Amino acid sequence: MTKILDAKSIIESKIDNLTQTCQLLKEQGLGPKLSVILVGENQASVLYVRNKERFCDRIGAEFELIKLPESISEKEFLSQLNRVNNDDSVTGCFVQLPVPKQLSHLDITQLINPEKDVDGFHLQTINDLYLNKLDNFIPCTPKGIVTLLQENQITIEGKNVVIIGRSHIVGKPLSLLMQALNATVTLCHSKTKNIKEHTQLADIIISAVGIPHLITPDYINPTRKQVVIDVGMNKLAGKTVGDVDFEAVKDLTSAITPVPGGVGPMTVFSLMQNLLLSTERILKRGK
Ligand code: GUN
Repeated sequence: MTKILDAKSIIESKIDNLTQTCQLLKEQGLGPKLSVILVGENQASVLYVRNKERFCDRIGAEFELIKLPESISEKEFLSQLNRVNNDDSVTGCFVQLPVPKQLSHLDITQLINPEKDVDGFHLQTINDLYLNKLDNFIPCTPKGIVTLLQENQITIEGKNVVIIGRSHIVGKPLSLLMQALNATVTLCHSKTKNIKEHTQLADIIISAVGIPHLITPDYINPTRKQVVIDVGMNKLAGKTVGDVDFEAVKDLTSAITPVPGGVGPMTVFSLMQNLLLSTERILKRGK
């Protein structure tokens, strides 16, 4: 029987703990506060940000949305970012990506105050991951995937992990995290020849490319009892689907994530964990 790795049960079992930590931090004088800068009206971004706001509400963290017009000047954008970076009441912040053209030359993830870098994309943060130090912020999607595996008693150490996609948000940091957790990692991308040859040898396959139904039964080796993790969130004929053709692949695997309801909510959950970590640290440092 294939196990469906859904996020809901994990989040339900852990949310009280986050809520209590949040309350405790407030009692100690610094409530967690997430500030998100959203430039323009990108539909997917608006939806992602709304999910983050909802989760903050659920655990009792403050949420601030700084909505800026699509046409905002670089100067005004930087001034807003600067304000958030230096606002002592803000304990975590990020700019929702992508940003409009006039800002795209900016290295935005490097402009975030590393102390509040709950996305985990600043190079100072990534440097720790590079050095196998896992006590700093870990990028949210990779962190959520590891939580999902660990909570389902799926061992990472010693496994062949094949990741498809080398984005800065998922593929690259995930490859570092998996190596730090003693997996053997293969990172495939658009120029990899015959990706199937790699996935056939995997114990854990993770797809993060954004191509609907890329992963079909021929990518799977049913004799290996593989685990398939789908990071994709794509629109196909009006429906949200992953990179994996779930119905076709499901029965060939030992465990698989659904889309929606798998990696997506785990990513937001990880963001909340990072927010509490940043708040705890700022509080400690202030004492
Ligand atoms: N756009 C899509 N995913 C993300 C994310 O995790 N963080 C930010 N800042 N922007 C995104």
